Amino acid sequence: SSSSSVDTFRRKHDYLRISLTERCNLRCFYCMPNDGVELSPPNNILSDDEILRLAKLFVQSGVKKIRLTGGEPTVRKGLANLVGRINELRIHGLQSIGMTSNGLALHRKLPLLIENGLTHLNLSLDTLDPLKFEILTRRTGHDGVLKSLEVAMASALHSVKLNVVVIRGLNDSEVLHFVNLTKDNPITVRFIEFMPFTGNKWDKDKLVPASELLERISGRFPGAVKLLDEPHDTSRNYAIPGHRGRFGFISSMSDHFCGSCNRLRITADGQIKVCLFDSKEVSLRDLIRSGVSDVELLAVIRQALSGKKAKHAGMENIDVVTNRPMILIGAGTYAL
Ligand code: GTP
Ligand code: 5AD
Ligand code: SF4
Repeated sequence: SSSSSVDTFRRKHDYLRISLTERCNLRCFYCMPNDGVELSPPNNILSDDEILRLAKLFVQSGVKKIRLTGGEPTVRKGLANLVGRINELRIHGLQSIGMTSNGLALHRKLPLLIENGLTHLNLSLDTLDPLKFEILTRRTGHDGVLKSLEVAMASALHSVKLNVVVIRGLNDSEVLHFVNLTKDNPITVRFIEFMPFTGNKWDKDKLVPASELLERISGRFPGAVKLLDEPHDTSRNYAIPGHRGRFGFISSMSDHFCGSCNRLRITADGQIKVCLFDSKEVSLRDLIRSGVSDVELLAVIRQALSGKKAKHAGMENIDVVTNRPMILIGAGTYAL
């Protein structure tokens, strides 16, 4: 029943983010601490069967949308096969399978992923300059990401979004170039406010508020119009008349959207996390491995959800001391 997916604030949780790995083929500083992260022992990472068991349970409890994250999801072995198995949950009510990827090695894998059921792709790309890419990611491979974008745009995917984390002094000068990409390309470019996580050198001065970016963009494109957003969209979206694509802002810091939050997440090591910014986690992996029934698992999930706070994002109240770095939460796609 869907009552197990409703929290104290009557928010219905129909969107599950599953992190498939803690590993990544890039090392973006805002996602991964300088000295790296200690990876979980391989045995602590959920197996395909364990992921499927949980995904099925969540879909039966009302989840309609699954997004695969990491680390970088494409570094997980057998990814396409796993997507195919998740796709079988459509008979239980699953409607879409998304993935957030850095695109580095995606272009070769994308056709099979789509064939197996992938419908939505969010591609992380913070700069159009190959040199800046190396500063940001501490790796090469900018051309691979652009190739993935081309392949994605030419594919049958329902939606392709570009995630741009904006860091003042680093890539904020490129915002208009990114908006220009929406002229001929059917994509949504989303500018993301830099968020604080353990070890990521967050600093208020590096944060560029969405309002400031909108002002800059409106200066160049006065005709930009606000679009009507989906109820649970993380981004506030705009379009420039005549452009094929759109752009938007994910303003977790300056203007949070917790009131309409519909997300749950499972980390690669099998913890349920009811909020991106809540360090409290419960191990579903340990429960599964101790042989509990679905009914018992659901009770624990419901219990975790009942502890979800009204809001976590915004300038106050963010806990970077005990919360994990992004790479280990499964919102980021980067590092090691
Ligand atoms: P869709 O809405 O499914 O397209 O994806 P998304 O925007 O939720 O996820 P994506 O993985 O592309 O992440 C884009 C940005 O949104 C990242 O910076 C995430 O950290 C941020 N984000 C994702 N989920 C949440 C959330 O639940 N809360 C907050 N505050 N930010 C989030
Ligand atoms: N602040 C904002 N966005 C971040 N991401 C990773 N770390 C941060 C951060 N500190 C983004 C990645 C990816 C998305 C899933 O999360 O760029 O696009
Ligand atoms: Fe939901 Fe937490 Fe993100 Fe707010 S910060 S939108 S409550 S996950």
